[in-house]
Amino acid sequence: MKELTIAADRCEESRIFFGRGVSSRIERADFVITDSNVNRIYGDRIAQWNAPVFVMEAGEEHKNEKTLFSALEAMKDAGLMRGDTVLAFGGGVVGDLGGLASALYMRGTNFVSVPTTLLAQVDASVGGKTAIDFRGVKNLVGVFRQPSRVYVDCSYLSTLPDREIRCGLGEIVKHAALDGALFDRLVNNKARLFDLRFLEDTVFGNIEYKASVVRRDAFEAGARVCLNLGHTTAHVYELATNLSHGECVLVGIIAEAEIAARYCETDGAYLEALKALARLALGKTPKLPAAETVAPLARLDKKNSEKDTVALTVPVKRGEYKILQLPYEAYEKELKLTGEIL
Ligand code: NAD
Ligand code: GLY
Repeated sequence: MKELTIAADRCEESRIFFGRGVSSRIERADFVITDSNVNRIYGDRIAQWNAPVFVMEAGEEHKNEKTLFSALEAMKDAGLMRGDTVLAFGGGVVGDLGGLASALYMRGTNFVSVPTTLLAQVDASVGGKTAIDFRGVKNLVGVFRQPSRVYVDCSYLSTLPDREIRCGLGEIVKHAALDGALFDRLVNNKARLFDLRFLEDTVFGNIEYKASVVRRDAFEAGARVCLNLGHTTAHVYELATNLSHGECVLVGIIAEAEIAARYCETDGAYLEALKALARLALGKTPKLPAAETVAPLARLDKKNSEKDTVALTVPVKRGEYKILQLPYEAYEKELKLTGEIL
């Protein structure tokens, strides 16, 4: 088993345990939040925690206020108290919604996370961002609250459909765009991108990288904005298509690498290699809706600081990124090109 701790300023300590079978070390859960697919596959595992279970419908479209309040109602009905432990068992959707429910109930209960998707293991379960989508905007309502413990158990990856591996690769390629060593490792193992053994060996390095960023800036006041690389464009497509988060991150990385090449000083060969990696992970080229219909979604992005400007975290060189503030009209024009460059 490997272990690391995130002890960031003004945050509760978060301990992350990594290894096959590590989630069997969980001694206590007073309430479990999961989704319908995970419950179907791992119902026996969940039953071992011997706690009331809230099963949400699987899918991003259920990461909303209706599910959040149903979860809170179930927590009340279970007589949950402030000192109790809420355990989120599932992918990033369950983790984001479960973390928010745990943070809101009685102004905060103990929160433990067991991520079961590749995406949640390398990214969503680490760092304390919780949220629901609201009124057509991704992650509009949420809080920062670190889980007290995260149990990253790669044995759950074996039941993931290929598409979910692809989604996890979205955030893995994003981390590679920020960290030179992670980039080299992916480029040198291109042929093994979908190989579970290789991915298992990749998860902890990704967690270490993300933890190093969160330790410096848990509340996204500075350094943590790097983790939004490709995400402004990803969020635009996520709510307007049936593509999932990780797939949209791959589209976002490709699109924003193109934008970077036009607006920043970049290393062209490096950006080509990064886009090739993202395309390899993405597989089939998705059909995207017209830029005019989706670009307005970028106006309400949390990362924007000015009204008619869209903020983008773009890759520029190996291990380097830039924050680009694009006038809205220019961003819309760039999105029109995205369909052509994918
Ligand atoms: P998800 O939670 O919807 O899971 C994807 C699918 O896999 C679901 O159908 C789920 O039921 C199924 N599943 C989960 N575990 C499984 C397993 N072991 N075997 C078989 N099926 C399994 O999606 P995701 O990709 O895990 O997460 C995406 C969400 O995470 C988005 O809402 C995104 O905004 C959020 N996110 C949050 C952060 C953060 O820092 N909080 C970071 C990245 C992404
Ligand atoms: N997934 C981006 C972040 O955690 O900041």
